Amino acid sequence: MPYNRGMASSSIVVLANAEIRDEFISEGVERLRHGASAGDVAEFIACAVEDDPDEHTVGYGGWPNILGEVELDASFMDGATLRAGAVAALKGFRHPISIARQVMLRLPHVLLAGEGAARFAAEIGAERRDMLSPEARAAWQQRIAAIGEDTHQRDTIALTLRALGERRGSDTMNVIVRDAAGHICSAVSTSGIAWKYPGRVGDSPLVGAGNYCDDRYGAAACMGLGEAAMRVGAAVQAVMLMRLGWSLESAGREVARQLSDLLGAPAAEDPTRHAHWVRILLMDAAGHVGAFATRPGLCYKVQRADDPHPLLREAVCPA
Ligand code: GLY
Repeated sequence: MPYNRGMASSSIVVLANAEIRDEFISEGVERLRHGASAGDVAEFIACAVEDDPDEHTVGYGGWPNILGEVELDASFMDGATLRAGAVAALKGFRHPISIARQVMLRLPHVLLAGEGAARFAAEIGAERRDMLSPEARAAWQQRIAAIGEDTHQRDTIALTLRALGERRGSDTMNVIVRDAAGHICSAVSTSGIAWKYPGRVGDSPLVGAGNYCDDRYGAAACMGLGEAAMRVGAAVQAVMLMRLGWSLESAGREVARQLSDLLGAPAAEDPTRHAHWVRILLMDAAGHVGAFATRPGLCYKVQRADDPHPLLREAVCPA
């Protein structure tokens, strides 16, 4: 099937992780009702979450790395063209998702990392911001004090391994938007795992791992332990199963089972045991949605054109 072919159904839908405020999702749906594109609405919602200081795993206020630096990952994918853009380990800019989208639009590349990503952001005039909020700085200082270390010591590996063993979340922002024309875009943005080793990049900016989108078959976005989503190619695998004719439900269950098998029961000494889960959001080409997780109790939100507000639902846990 050619990439740009529109789908029969024209149903508008926004699918997002449960931590996103209802008003951001509802404003996105309202824009879709007035003809906005899936790409513009996905970027709008992601930017709103990146600005939210109470969301500690995305954008401003995100937990920093072990050195107290906020390093942000984001990706954007256009299901009509399969074009994608991403940034990884980006410091000092307000909206990583917008920069990721501009990578897609302005460069013949998909992913820019670290200094190159910052250079590109500066060159396109992206807004700079100190992304470390006072609350996040205080939490980092407390963590360093709690493990009885100082960050001037040379052994950053040991420091990271000691600091990581605390539940601070990996609650990535996932949004998948289908517009009135049947086009789908997906956006993922995160500060990653708290107290991570500098330069650690998770699944969120990796097309195929934490984000994938193809109008013809559907879209997927992941939250949770990025290393697991990377190792099974979770997002692209789910969409490819739908491409092969699997239902959304079967594809989601299969990928969640693979992730569960991979993760197993975390060893007591595993420094990431607090984050030993993944949840994947799925949308098929017709706009049906679902979410699948490796543990119970993980939720998501969905709002369609006729819904007055987002509905909260629990992800299926097939294990
Ligand atoms: N899923 C987000 C991360 O692992 O960075």
